[in-house]
This record gives sequence, C-alpha cells and structure tokens, in this order.
Amino acid sequence: MAPQRELVLKDDESRHAARVHELLAREIVNAAGWISFERFMELALYAPGLGYYSAGARKFGVGGDFTTAPEISGLYGACVGRQCADIFGTLGAGSILEIGAGSGHLATDILARLEALRQLPVQYLILEVSADLRERQRRHLEQRLPHLIDRVRWLDRPPEEPFDGIVLANEVLDALPVVRFRWYGDRVEELGVAIADGRFGWAPRPASPALNEAVRRLRGDPGRDPWDDGYVSEYCPRLPAWTHSVTQSLRTGAALWFDYGLPRRQYYLAERHEGTLLCHFRQRAHGDPFVHPGLKDITAWVDFTLLAEACRPAGFELAGFTTQAYFLAGVGIDQEMRVIAGNDEMTFARLANQARQLMLPGEMGESFKAMAWLRGIDVTLRGFALQDLRHTL
Ligand SMILES: C[S@@+](CC[C@H](N)C(=O)[O-])C[C@H]1O[C@@H](n2cnc3c(N)ncnc32)[C@H](O)[C@@H]1O
Repeated sequence: MAPQRELVLKDDESRHAARVHELLAREIVNAAGWISFERFMELALYAPGLGYYSAGARKFGVGGDFTTAPEISGLYGACVGRQCADIFGTLGAGSILEIGAGSGHLATDILARLEALRQLPVQYLILEVSADLRERQRRHLEQRLPHLIDRVRWLDRPPEEPFDGIVLANEVLDALPVVRFRWYGDRVEELGVAIADGRFGWAPRPASPALNEAVRRLRGDPGRDPWDDGYVSEYCPRLPAWTHSVTQSLRTGAALWFDYGLPRRQYYLAERHEGTLLCHFRQRAHGDPFVHPGLKDITAWVDFTLLAEACRPAGFELAGFTTQAYFLAGVGIDQEMRVIAGNDEMTFARLANQARQLMLPGEMGESFKAMAWLRGIDVTLRGFALQDLRHTL
C-alpha cells in the first residue's frame, strides 16, 4: 500500500483547496442548497483562477496527478503525426487545431514527425483553457523545436476563420462536465450536490423531463440488459454543442478524437452500476469528487455513440473507430520505433517497453479508443485499417 503521507496536502494546496471549497459552498447556498453535478464539475475544473485546469498545478507526468499516452512515449505523437501526414497528403496543405495540449508533448512529437515527412502544417493552433499549461506548452515547444515556434498559435476560443486540416484532441472529452443520474424503474433522479456540516455530498432530485428522456434513450431496449433500481451513471449533455463549436470552422479535413470510453451499449451495461466517474490526484485514481475539489482532475468515460451522434449531423463521415492498440499497430508503431531508435538497440528496447504500455489490453490498449471523422475529403486512414469497430456504435 502507498504511504498515507503522500495524500497530506502542502500548505499552498490546503489554502487553494479551502478557496475552491468556499467558492463551491457559496454557489450551493446561492442556489438554495442544491447544484447539479455538472455545475460542480465545471467549477471544480474551470472556475477562473481556481479550477483544476484554470489554476497552476503540475498535473501531468512524474510529480503530477496522472500520465497520458503522449507523456508515456514520443512514439504516440509520432504515430498520430504519421496519420496526419496521410491526411495532408490528400488535402495538399492545411493546419492542425489541437484542443487541450497538456504539457505540449503531443504537439511537439506530431510536428517533429510531420517535419521529417515534409508535411508540416501551415499553422499549429492550440486551443487551451489553462494559462499555466499554455506557458508550459510554449516552453516545451521552444526548447524542442525552436525553428517551428512561429507556426504555433494559441487560441482562447475556437477559430472563426474557416480552415482546412485536422482537429484533434487527446484526453479532453473526458473532462467535459457530466450530469449524474440514478435510475429506478418508475423514475429517474438527478444526483446533484448539497452541503451538510461543511461537507459536500450527493443529493437526489427528480430528473427534469429532458434528463428523463435522455436517460431512457441511453438505456435503449429495456428488455436487453435491465438496470437494477439504484443504477447510477453519467451523461454529458454538453458534448454535442462543444464538439460542434470546436469543429465548425473546419472546412475540409478530419477530426481525430482519442480518449477512454465505450460505445453506448457497453458503457451503460447493467453491471457498470456505479458509473465511470474517476478522479486523479498524485497518480492515484479514486471515485470521490468531493475530496479536495480544485486540486484534482475529475473525469468520466466518453460515450462514443454520443460523439458519433454529435459529429454526423455536422457534416462529417465516420471514417474509423478502433482501440488505441489497433490504431497504433495500423499506423505502424514498429516502423516508428525503428525511425526513432535508428541502430541504437538500448533506445529500441526502451521504446518497446513504452509501446507495451500504450498497447497492452490491461494497460491503455483497449480502454482507450481512436475515432476519425472526415469532412469533404476521402482518404484511407491507416490507423483504422486493422480493426473496424464502427458497427458497435
Ligand atoms: C487530461 S489533459 C490532456 C492533455 C494532452 N492532450 C495529453 O494527452 O497529454 C486535458 C487538457 O485539456 C485542456 N482542457 C480541458 N478542458 C478543455 C476545454 N474545454 N477546452 C480546451 N482545453 C481544455 C486542459 O487544460 C489540458 O491541457
């Protein structure tokens, strides 16, 4: 068992946690004692200057709260870059819009691979909500690719000017605030947040007609896999509007989404009766969002069927849906390893170890998925050639 002292907060963390707690408590009091979990999660992650993503914190990698695929290995960005090169090969030229670039590793690795393949984007745009992460991204890019920094531009909001190219996001959809619900055969409750004795806790209320209808849609055919009374899960009502807003200026090109999640039928299985909410703090995952809000990441798995429902009416064609392992294999991760390692067998062995972390089913290989959408172009995407899971959506 990990030593308990790891969870003891430093003084500045305690002060920060107290300010976030105060903000959330005030919000609840001002709303007559109850707020939706969606609002709680929005404030805990994004409240200006206080939320997890808006305030300064280490967040990623060693010494941070969690580790993402681009943090594990440069191979990941090299593979995504390889896939982007095919799209630019068909498009001729274009730009990339990355949403939520974290520490900047993915951007750097994609750009380095595209440069080697002579397919550099006209611009690399980064839409990032966190001011301190922007700084971190800039420093990383300046250090690794100083000659390309002029191509990189940071945005506060989705671009308004139409552009051709690629929109991509790795582990961003899972941070969109979700509604929590509880199912009983004859009714649906929304699990919001109230405060008692200074502590946040779950507080049920009858679901609104809109949530009621949404939950019945998520459940699908009731005879197939009935939910027990008390079944709890999440739903992301803002995902359609959000995906539309970040892709609307893409005139021609592709949207690539990478995240952990499932098609709806698997997401809302009866056996997953406690939902998928997960919090990350100092490399530990746990399910209680009420401990230290503002100091930790709060996430929920992505319902990829909901993402499909959002992208299709926006003029996109679903070009591929597969696991991370098959995406990386399809792109040719073995060749990318050779390209990076050259004849250095030590480096090759290190990369092989990282590839296992990215691809093994018990690691990131199966729970993480890749989804590709095309708008106005037709291109064969090598990352989606080995396994096609579109029929599961
Ligand atoms: C879990 S991190 C992933 C970072 C990076 N993509 C990676 O894979 O290492 C989420 C990133 O998305 C950003 N982010 C979260 N919500 C966002 C939003 N609504 N719009 C833009 N960026 C967002 C965060 O600041 C952070 O950079």
